[in-house]
Amino acid sequence: MLLALVAALAVPVAGAASADSAPADSAPAVSAPAGDAARGAELAALANCASCHTAAGGAPYAGGYALETPYGVFHGPNITQDPDHGIGGWTWPDFVDAMRRGRSPDGRHYYPAFPYPSYTKLHDDDLADLWAFVQTIAPVAQPSLDHALTRYRRRSVLGLWKLLELDRGALRDDPRLDAELNRGRYLVEAVAHCGECHTPRNGRGGRIDRKALAGSELPPEPGPNITPHEDALGGWTADDWEALLDLGILPDGDFVGGEMMGVVEHGTAVISAEDRRAIARWLMEGVAPQPP
Ligand code: HEC
Ligand code: HEC
Repeated sequence: MLLALVAALAVPVAGAASADSAPADSAPAVSAPAGDAARGAELAALANCASCHTAAGGAPYAGGYALETPYGVFHGPNITQDPDHGIGGWTWPDFVDAMRRGRSPDGRHYYPAFPYPSYTKLHDDDLADLWAFVQTIAPVAQPSLDHALTRYRRRSVLGLWKLLELDRGALRDDPRLDAELNRGRYLVEAVAHCGECHTPRNGRGGRIDRKALAGSELPPEPGPNITPHEDALGGWTADDWEALLDLGILPDGDFVGGEMMGVVEHGTAVISAEDRRAIARWLMEGVAPQPP
């Protein structure tokens, strides 16, 4: 029944699917481009890959972290170079397919708990750097844990989800914005995926991007409204943003809490001051104010 629905809907939304062939979503070259592993490590830090792929006290990237969602608990898999339990046997096209299309080498759809709906926006050269970094992760022979889901246990429904919710392909610069604002937008939307925790979601669990960063109520922790609305962060200055992104300090002197501290500690605190300024400017000037 559900499969029939997927088949029936696949026809009218074929237009969405054909966006796949847009130039920005270039087909992966078969041989890997020469990426820079050190730059890839910085991208992985801002993208927070380690947080979901490392269990508390566990080996880096060996999986086991429990991610609580309204659909049940996801376990970040082992993405070390172990050929049996990790992704040691993957090719560059396999990696591109996972990051841009949310598709595994054997054709399964990934759950968007893996934030590929943001990572799909990564530029090709950044994906190549990430791939170079991923290949330096020491192999750990530890099996990935199964997810414990209460809804959407069957991955087949994710094909329909992707047709409706996944707007895939690298983010293109907006010619109306200067270079710093384009950089800030790219870091916020693609790499740091701030919207995955701060943008409200619809009933299907897709981000409502016209209300970008207006706040999300979802577990494990609600992400507050971080738009420049007067009742949200409209009063924040460039210095306020620098204190938050570099040190995790809020204007009232408190430290930011929960998941956000990890985003700062492993991500925004370790990037360059220029990139922090670009993020801050985008959040102050580029993002539309949204009422709480
Ligand atoms: C918010 C949590 C989260 C973050 C952040 C995250 N992932 Fe994942 N990732 C997951 C989950 C959950 C899965 C499993 C998805 C599934 O089973 O459908 C996954 C799956 C994967 C897979 C597929 C593994 C396999 O065995 O099929 C790869 C590769 C991967 N992630 C790489 C990355 C990289 C690289 C980053 C950083 C750029 C990253 N992930 C960031 C949660 C996350
Ligand atoms: C993994 C989820 C997650 C991601 C990704 C994330 N945040 Fe947060 N953020 C949170 C949560 C949860 C809080 C609330 C923390 C608290 O209760 O202290 C928060 C709080 C904040 C606050 C404080 C707001 C206030 O009114 O006190 C700011 C500012 C913020 N985040 C900005 C960002 C930016 C910018 C990004 C991207 C670079 C980002 N966040 C990415 C989860 C996230």
